[in-house]
Amino acid sequence: MKIELAKKYGFCFGVKRAIKIAENTENSATIGELIHNNEEIDRLHKKFGVKTLNDISEITDEKRLIIRTHGITKDDLDVLKSKNKELIDATCPFVKKPQQIVEKMSSEGYDIIIFGDKNHPEVKGVKSYAKGKVFVVLDVSELKNLKISNKVALVSQTTKRIENFTKIAEFLMTTTKELRIFNTICNATFQNQEAAAKLAKKADIMIIIGGKNSSNTKQLLLISQNFCKNSYLIENENELKKEWFLNKEICGITAGASTPEWIIKKVVKKINTMC
Ligand code: F3S
Repeated sequence: MKIELAKKYGFCFGVKRAIKIAENTENSATIGELIHNNEEIDRLHKKFGVKTLNDISEITDEKRLIIRTHGITKDDLDVLKSKNKELIDATCPFVKKPQQIVEKMSSEGYDIIIFGDKNHPEVKGVKSYAKGKVFVVLDVSELKNLKISNKVALVSQTTKRIENFTKIAEFLMTTTKELRIFNTICNATFQNQEAAAKLAKKADIMIIIGGKNSSNTKQLLLISQNFCKNSYLIENENELKKEWFLNKEICGITAGASTPEWIIKKVVKKINTMC
């Protein structure tokens, strides 16, 4: 069986940056998971003493606090600023962007529509910057019952698919008088998705490596499943099953934007020993 890696996969710029920040800030604590990958969070803890706190209520005697890649809410940020701690911001600049847009546009009187998952930490953070009306939607159907004004600004969660964002933009174009559209979808996500689709078209089996709570990893799984029914999402090599690979010729591999290279290497090695 031939193993082929997608042309683009794994760590994005924002995650690489956040990990470097954490490695250089030993014995610190992050507010929320720094990135959506448990194994990497474990490594940072064991090797660099970087702890993970669930939220700001868990802060005790930590001297240095790191803001995670997906950002935090404005209220939490204000609380952190009022504490006597060193604050290190690892929010990805591509997440900072929609936060700034939402703050600016809502202060100019625009209603804000965020295309995204309302429970995702990034979306909660972006939403918190709105000063007026703000709605989070995942689908056009949700827009139909909303009382939106004639001035609307639209942003997206960074990891969403452009096709769905476009549908929301099209709907709003026909129902509002003034619409500002900000495509805040991140290129890294696009590139990994396109490469995954291309590979899944020819693969007999697709292995997607990444955190099961990671939005962009789940997207990769969905895309792969469109073209290759034998698509599996795993967090590490121990989840591989020998029977998946029986009579398969091409095994495609991709990984989410928070998946470190060392996990990918272990997976490839294990598949090689299995087949
Ligand atoms: Fe940032 Fe895009 Fe990664 S938003 S964290 S570079 S997927």
